[in-house]
Amino acid sequence: MTTTVRESPRYIVRPPEPAALRLEHLSVWYGRHQAIRDVSFTIPARRITAIIGPSGCGKSTLLRALNRMHDLTPEARVEGSVWWGEVDLYAPSTDPVWVRRHIGMIFQKPNPFPKSVFENVAFGLRVNGYRGDIAGRVEEALRKAALWDEVKDKLHQSALALSGGQQQRLCIARAIAL
Ligand SMILES: Nc1ncnc2c1ncn2[C@@H]1O[C@H](COP(=O)(O)OP(=O)(O)OP(=O)(O)O)[C@@H](O)[C@H]1O
Ligand SMILES: [Mg+2]
Repeated sequence: MTTTVRESPRYIVRPPEPAALRLEHLSVWYGRHQAIRDVSFTIPARRITAIIGPSGCGKSTLLRALNRMHDLTPEARVEGSVWWGEVDLYAPSTDPVWVRRHIGMIFQKPNPFPKSVFENVAFGLRVNGYRGDIAGRVEEALRKAALWDEVKDKLHQSALALSGGQQQRLCIARAIAL
């Protein structure tokens, strides 16, 4: 894929790329406190996008708006739209559980379930009634999260016995598996 049209020391102009997500006039309130104020931008597909800013400026609040996580916080209210392709994630007809099944989130602090390594990755598949090759999907997800070699001999030991970094990669595998 050609991305650079014109390059100068200060500017790189790129042609339009497919969007992963498009935010339109997104605002988020916690009670009367407005944490996100009318934010619009596009997150390109197949790239890493970083959101940078001082502590408390609203980074986590913005991220939580991308998979309807604020629905679970009674005092939080979201206005605006987040488009995933042709789907408006906040349309009344959009099921938030469906959204979270497709848009995974890894938190800053690892939060593995108090279960085995294998069951952590298999959990979402089982909950969603997946009837295929669970062991194959678990291995594939662990490989993609660059964890397989470190855990292949302790799949049935507790995930809580892994190191912090391994626990975080396990959470990535858990999201990938789904
Ligand atoms: N559940 C909540 N209820 C009420 N206010 C909240 C809640 N979560 C966050 N806030 C407030 O919203 C604002 C944005 O918080 P947020 O956690 O999004 O910041 P952040 O940019 O992720 O900060 P950090 O870099 O410290 O993680 C802050 O003023 C915070 O106090
Ligand atoms: Mg944060």
